Amino acid sequence: MPTGFFLSFLSLLMFTCATALDRNESKPGCQSKCGNITVPYPFGIGEKCSIAKWANITCNTTFNPPRPFYSNLEVVQFSQTEIRVKTPIIASRCYLQSGALDVARPPVTSYLTLLNTPYTFSSIKNKIIVIGCDTLGLIEGTMGHGGSADFNYSGGCISLCRRTEDVTEGVCSGIGCCQTTIPKGLNKFTAATTSLKNHTQVWSFDPCSFTFLAEQEAYKFKKSDFSNISSLMDVPIVLNYAVGNQTCTDAKKDPTTFACNDNSHCNDSVDGTGYLCSCNNGYDGNPYLDQGCQDVNECEDLNNNPCEGNCANTIGGYNCSCPDDFNGDGTKNGTGCTKKNKKFPVLPVMLGTGFGFLFVLVGGSWLHLTVKKRKNFKLREKFFQKNGGLLLQQQLFSHEGGVESTKIFTAEELKLATNNYNEQRILGQGGYGTVYKGTLPDQRIVAIKKSKIIDESQLGQFINEVVILTQINHRNVVKLLGCCLETEVPLLVYEFVPNGTLFHHIHENISARTSISWEVRLRVAAETAGALAYLHSATSIPVIHRDVKSANILLDNSNTAKVADFGASRLNPLDQTQISTLVQGTMGYLDPEYFHTSQLTEKSDVYSFGVVLAELLTGEKALSFERSQEQRNLATYFTVSMKENHLFQILEVGIVNEGKIEQVHAVAKLAKRCLNLKGEERPSMKEVAAELEKLRGFEKHSGVRQSNENIIGFASQEGDLYDSPLESYSDSAFVYSIEKEMTMSMLDGPR
Ligand SMILES: *[C@@H]1O[C@H](CO)[C@@H](O)[C@H](O)[C@H]1NC(C)=O
Ligand SMILES: *[C@@H]1O[C@H](CO)[C@@H](O)[C@H](O)[C@H]1NC(C)=O
Ligand SMILES: *[C@@H]1O[C@H](CO)[C@@H](O)[C@H](O)[C@H]1NC(C)=O
Ligand SMILES: *[C@@H]1O[C@H](CO)[C@@H](O)[C@H](O)[C@H]1NC(C)=O
Ligand SMILES: *[C@@H]1O[C@H](CO)[C@@H](O)[C@H](O)[C@H]1NC(C)=O
Ligand SMILES: *[C@@H]1O[C@H](CO)[C@@H](O)[C@H](O)[C@H]1NC(C)=O
Ligand SMILES: *[C@@H]1O[C@H](CO)[C@@H](O)[C@H](O)[C@H]1NC(C)=O
Ligand SMILES: *[C@@H]1O[C@H](CO)[C@@H](O)[C@H](O)[C@H]1NC(C)=O
Ligand SMILES: *[C@@H]1O[C@H](CO)[C@@H](O)[C@H](O)[C@H]1NC(C)=O
Ligand SMILES: *[C@@H]1O[C@H](CO)[C@@H](O)[C@H](O)[C@H]1NC(C)=O
Ligand SMILES: *[C@@H]1O[C@H](CO)[C@@H](O)[C@H](O)[C@H]1NC(C)=O
Repeated sequence: MPTGFFLSFLSLLMFTCATALDRNESKPGCQSKCGNITVPYPFGIGEKCSIAKWANITCNTTFNPPRPFYSNLEVVQFSQTEIRVKTPIIASRCYLQSGALDVARPPVTSYLTLLNTPYTFSSIKNKIIVIGCDTLGLIEGTMGHGGSADFNYSGGCISLCRRTEDVTEGVCSGIGCCQTTIPKGLNKFTAATTSLKNHTQVWSFDPCSFTFLAEQEAYKFKKSDFSNISSLMDVPIVLNYAVGNQTCTDAKKDPTTFACNDNSHCNDSVDGTGYLCSCNNGYDGNPYLDQGCQDVNECEDLNNNPCEGNCANTIGGYNCSCPDDFNGDGTKNGTGCTKKNKKFPVLPVMLGTGFGFLFVLVGGSWLHLTVKKRKNFKLREKFFQKNGGLLLQQQLFSHEGGVESTKIFTAEELKLATNNYNEQRILGQGGYGTVYKGTLPDQRIVAIKKSKIIDESQLGQFINEVVILTQINHRNVVKLLGCCLETEVPLLVYEFVPNGTLFHHIHENISARTSISWEVRLRVAAETAGALAYLHSATSIPVIHRDVKSANILLDNSNTAKVADFGASRLNPLDQTQISTLVQGTMGYLDPEYFHTSQLTEKSDVYSFGVVLAELLTGEKALSFERSQEQRNLATYFTVSMKENHLFQILEVGIVNEGKIEQVHAVAKLAKRCLNLKGEERPSMKEVAAELEKLRGFEKHSGVRQSNENIIGFASQEGDLYDSPLESYSDSAFVYSIEKEMTMSMLDGPR
């Protein structure tokens, strides 16, 4: 599939964000760095250099190089939305072999409060991490400003194991290490820890329990952390910040204090504590400084000039144009520039059989004679008829409503949109034909599929499916916008989905950083299942996809799944370049029952979807000749591993690491049911979708419960907002009450 293209598209996006102007600028006349760390405005070092007291940074020069501090928090990085601080919030509890507490290493409970500051703990980047083989991690936190809207939160997780051999380094999923998320907007955090059996059974290799908050990406679990706390001390925590204590709407009312300057806009902070400023499109710089954001001269950007033709910078944008004897809008992501020459379209000449070949022959000789437009027009009309244009028109007109969006494009329009089927516009190529990226005159970007030659006998069904597809409006189904029937083969016009296929993300994305997380995988699975269930049951005529596979699930910029290529897969020729079969579908995904009986039912899609689930869980391809004979087919390999209880040996490492074990297990069980050899015994797509949605919901709500106990009563309430010093605390005397309280409430539950 179109790997190369998507990669370059992604890097194009990234380049667009790189800038010449310095977002990291400090206020003029102020120290811009502390040691080697840049301190950008609204932060600042010293008098009048920061926007407010909460952004007042001190540079402690007793260190070499000097280090920046906010209050007593050491800051290791500043960015436009967050700061990264080094401040261990670690609770610990160590035992002697007898099970008594180790007085040489007294137990510690630890907390940090950001109350009355615009900082909150980032719920996206931080995780609570609990280490030990007989360990309960307990945490408490609050949200809000100390008013009536406050919300007290408590939660935690349990990590157990028997033998050190059972513990896998780098994997934090309940065996020796567990982790859990924190809610959004937390501004006070307390960690405590305890154990169930005083570590008596695991003491030889694990005498301590630890619970701490950390930036998840920055911490990798190691067995040596069981006894050595020192590597935990350096893991940073990410804090979100916001300017002011009001929403954008309220803050704008007072221009004297409103922090967003020229050419920038205001966004409410995600945690509801204030707002943030960012530069408008086409501008860059530091939105908090007096001069505001500056125009970016896109034309001077050597790496990423947006124009193919002439480039003229404008304030807040740019203007591309083509030289006189060229057509097009001059932009690289648009239609570019093409030399004006032949007036009529060159028809795609492809080898065909029977009818098609005849037309090509006739068409070819016509072209050779360089004939006039009229004959050309006739040819197009003929193709239009051959391709079922009349039938389609009839179908479209016989329907009331719902099909206004179906457009029959002209060959000319699509040729222009794809810059005459320019090779650089090819998104993908395969047995089905070629997909091009196109830009319509209204600047919409579309994907244009040029199918291979179609069997005349299938025409009626093809038309029927085009009509059905144009009526489907589901957020997880790629929208078919229209088609063009004037060319020798039908051209289909789809919405453009920018972020590549699921296949690509699972199998071809070598960099683990961009590989998709378990949470996204689960969401993609649920969305795909929802879309298929909708096709099976919610549309007026059930649509069976017939070719469900990870390469047919596209992802958009927010990784929302879009099922593609259904129904129209009828266009698939019985082709040699791909492993396809007489019965339609792709090897590795093909329902064995359908294969044997040729009886197509909705359950065949369920089977193929089961294979996709197995791919998501294992990171393995559906069919791989790199695997041994008995493991070649993923469906079989997966089912056998499940039967033999080897599931955890075949899961992708990252999944075990971040996935919730019970979720992963439930998805694996579901996949196994989908892969049942008997169609009847497979769940329906609707059941699959419901189950996946349920699993997703479970993740969102677990671990949060409210407590009204006034367990930790030392939050400072005095002082002006954002004015009071930060408090943090580490002491042993304090442990007892909170820990007992929390243990009780945690163990109260179903056991
Ligand atoms: C701003 O600073 C951050 C971190 O120090 C760095 O990653 C980034 O590249 C800097 N940006 C610019 C425009 O200098
Ligand atoms: C700052 O310097 C320290 C030690 O010299 C180094 O470890 C660290 O990576 C540097 N940080 C940046 C942002 O350059
Ligand atoms: C920032 O802190 C310094 C030293 O602690 C102090 O002199 C200065 O007044 C503070 N600035 C603001 C704006 O609070
Ligand atoms: C700098 O850090 C040292 C060591 O932590 C500390 O003793 C000192 O008080 C700090 N100085 C300032 C000005 O904060
Ligand atoms: C654990 O230690 C506590 C005292 O620290 C003691 O009261 C309790 O009985 C011990 N429990 C077990 C299971 O050893
Ligand atoms: C603990 O780990 C640190 C580095 O992570 C190492 O320098 C130190 O020697 C270790 N201490 C013990 C007691 O193993
Ligand atoms: C916002 O902060 C200012 C002081 O910086 C204070 O006077 C005001 O009451 C605060 N408003 C709210 C809604 O907390
Ligand atoms: C920020 O606000 C602008 C308009 O004020 C909006 O277009 C943009 O989507 C917002 N960004 C985020 C991340 O919410
Ligand atoms: C771009 O250039 C064209 C022709 O020179 C002009 O009509 C158009 O208004 C320009 N657009 C902008 C945003 O300057
Ligand atoms: C091309 O990209 C620019 C930004 O890089 C954008 O403003 C413009 O709308 C895009 N054109 C199309 C046709 O999408
Ligand atoms: C949350 O706890 C604090 C003290 O820790 C208490 O003052 C406050 O009333 C509690 N809020 C709620 C909503 O329970």
